[in-house]
Amino acid sequence: MRISVIGCGYLGAVHAAAMAELGHQVVGVDVDERKIAALAAGHPPFFEPGLPEILTSATATGRLRFSTDIADAAGSEVHFLAVGTPQAAGTNAADLRYVDAAFDGLLPHLADGALVVGKSTVPVGTAARLGARLADAAPQASLAWNPEFLREGFAVKDTLEPDRLVYGVGDEHAASVLDHVYRAAIEAGTPRIVTDYATAELVKVAANAFLATKISFINAMSEVADATGADVTALADAIGHDARIGRRFLNAGVGFGGGCLPKDIRAFTARAEELGRGDSLAFLKEVDAINLRQRQRVVDLAVEALGGSVFRKRIAVLGVTFKPDSDDVRDSPALDVAVQLTGLGADVVATDPEGIENARARHPQLDYTTSTREALSGADLVVLVTEWREYRALDPVETGRLVAGRRIIDGRNVLDLGAWRAAGWQVRGLGRP
Ligand code: UDX
Repeated sequence: MRISVIGCGYLGAVHAAAMAELGHQVVGVDVDERKIAALAAGHPPFFEPGLPEILTSATATGRLRFSTDIADAAGSEVHFLAVGTPQAAGTNAADLRYVDAAFDGLLPHLADGALVVGKSTVPVGTAARLGARLADAAPQASLAWNPEFLREGFAVKDTLEPDRLVYGVGDEHAASVLDHVYRAAIEAGTPRIVTDYATAELVKVAANAFLATKISFINAMSEVADATGADVTALADAIGHDARIGRRFLNAGVGFGGGCLPKDIRAFTARAEELGRGDSLAFLKEVDAINLRQRQRVVDLAVEALGGSVFRKRIAVLGVTFKPDSDDVRDSPALDVAVQLTGLGADVVATDPEGIENARARHPQLDYTTSTREALSGADLVVLVTEWREYRALDPVETGRLVAGRRIIDGRNVLDLGAWRAAGWQVRGLGRP
């Protein structure tokens, strides 16, 4: 099929490349010239395993091209809207200006029978509003909402082999067009839910709200564990054996961040309030508050570990990204901890395998190094806040030879505390005795 993808950020760039990989003829459109030039050259402006490979192979076949001119979307049978919906300044609500601009830009270029497919995460009601505008301004085209559930670090796999497909449609025809787009996944037996616009929009935010709640639940348990001497990791293992609960997303630590979970739960709460249902989602404010508290907890542990003050103490912060296998530092708990410790007068050296450039752009006042060894050298305290494989694999004896003081805070509960203690370290986790 001939497909356009409007917006080539994280979601759009991966989607465009994956659609071309599936054999479609794809044009990716974005207003950012540098981004488009980088993607056309096979160099995504963010770190995502597997993406450079499929970008290069699809571009070489001629099935994938990029453009800064929305007129190049003309002639496509399907137009995916994949622009960002960030948190609006000064409020919890989502900022829809990019969705509206992309939609308006597309209107004059819609062919007979074209399908506009929203992928961006939007407040419930957006698709109905855009659908009404389409019926008015371009009745030859129709609209579907098809949320995306990709995880950073697994974005290519999640797009090519999704665990479910959700179509919010106004008519059966839209569903059959989407079936054609996703034929490979459908033939592989991927569950497909065909529903209305509002349900499709809600599925996405409900999924993220559930995941965020699960993480904050276990972090709340870790606070209680700390007060009682219990071990939250064993607790998670034990409740996780109940298939109704499940062990995934029950890792207590410094909490969730990134470009989706935090802003999506806030936008969901804001939308519920607009709908007069603020009470229904009031618990998500608590989920957010628990989450933000974990960052403070790690900072407090650092102060405690250093005897009451971090002033002029050298602290190695391992990790700045919001999770491993990503260079994303948006709303990153790890970077937040590094910034807070610096604010308290600590001599912080932050390190990360992929995220330093992005971290430096946001917080140039911090000291960074790409070398784990250099960060650890002479440290009075080590704070592990992103569970990159290389940090999980650190050897306590060898690491002990580099630092000035054998103190470590495991902000992700991934270290074998016994092994570190045996090597003479003072170790603290979150909710672990
Ligand atoms: C998330 C959703 O998983 C995805 O479906 C949606 O499309 C976008 O938002 P992503 O932001 O890539 O994806 O990250 P995810 O892997 O979900 O992790 C989110 C955050 O939760 C990370 O900061 C991670 O460190 C944290 N987390 C995750 C925990 O603190 N504990 C856990 O047990 C799991």
